[in-house]
Amino acid sequence: MVAIKSEHAAHWYGSLSLEKHEFIWIKEYLYKNAGIALNDNKQALVSGRLEKRLRYYGFSTYSEYFRLLGKPEFEQETLMAIDLLTTNETYFFREVQHFNFLNSHFLANHPASRPLRMWSAASSSGEEAYSLAMIIAEYPKLGQWEIIGTDISTRMLEKAQRSLYPINATEKIPLPLLKKYCLKGSGEYSGFFLIDPTLRRRVKFMYANLNNELPDMGSFNVIFLRNVMIYFDMPTKQRLIERIQHYLLPGGYFIISHSESLNGMKSDLQMVSPSIYRKVDN
Ligand SMILES: C[S@@+](CC[C@H](N)C(=O)[O-])C[C@H]1O[C@@H](n2cnc3c(N)ncnc32)[C@H](O)[C@@H]1O
Repeated sequence: MVAIKSEHAAHWYGSLSLEKHEFIWIKEYLYKNAGIALNDNKQALVSGRLEKRLRYYGFSTYSEYFRLLGKPEFEQETLMAIDLLTTNETYFFREVQHFNFLNSHFLANHPASRPLRMWSAASSSGEEAYSLAMIIAEYPKLGQWEIIGTDISTRMLEKAQRSLYPINATEKIPLPLLKKYCLKGSGEYSGFFLIDPTLRRRVKFMYANLNNELPDMGSFNVIFLRNVMIYFDMPTKQRLIERIQHYLLPGGYFIISHSESLNGMKSDLQMVSPSIYRKVDN
């Protein structure tokens, strides 16, 4: 049997506790770098999510780990820390009313001769972007279309690009679309499905921190910004709306989650119905 020195045993089995001042530090770091405002009751969540990174380095305090963050030589680690602290929950056809709205008010009327571009901002693992792709693909007259998905989490972007999902993620996908655009895995992929390559070619994913300079992506007819502003405070949301609306074409639709609101914010967006806005057509 291999003898384990007691100081090493302490690293693995000792309990790692996130001290109050350390929580305050990471809270400020996350706010400054991702715009995410953590509630004070999230201390256990932060320590739980970062614990494996401390174990990876063999650190016994969170402060040692935090010293790595932001250093150029630890860029990947910094991305990973932010990644671990974000909430990525998403699913296909989430808040289906938005997809129904686009079907009945937008897609059928969009001129075939005009390109169509949609942006899933904060796309997480891609389900929102692919749900949009499925409904657009149902209009074969729309030849020139593309969807861009962006997120701060590189881990989620990799998943999105892969487009391989567990079978139980099909639950909310309408059956005709499921049959047409999802390929059931077999062999080592049994229990999974893959988005059809014809759709995948239309959907691109890239890194973008919504609270930093955004990449040059051109203009969009529709922007989905759902279930991410809930993590931002009011000044961060206001700044984001001011910047993001420039990416929307006049008359374009801006869609947020039903649990979010633009109340009290200045913008060029007019409410069409709760959670659906339209850019004023000058
Ligand atoms: C709860 S998911 C929402 C996914 C999808 N839009 C939906 O409604 O199902 C929130 C996503 O926002 C991303 N996120 C958080 N802060 C961000 C930021 N500053 N810039 C870009 N993405 C961010 C997270 O990584 C996560 O994938």
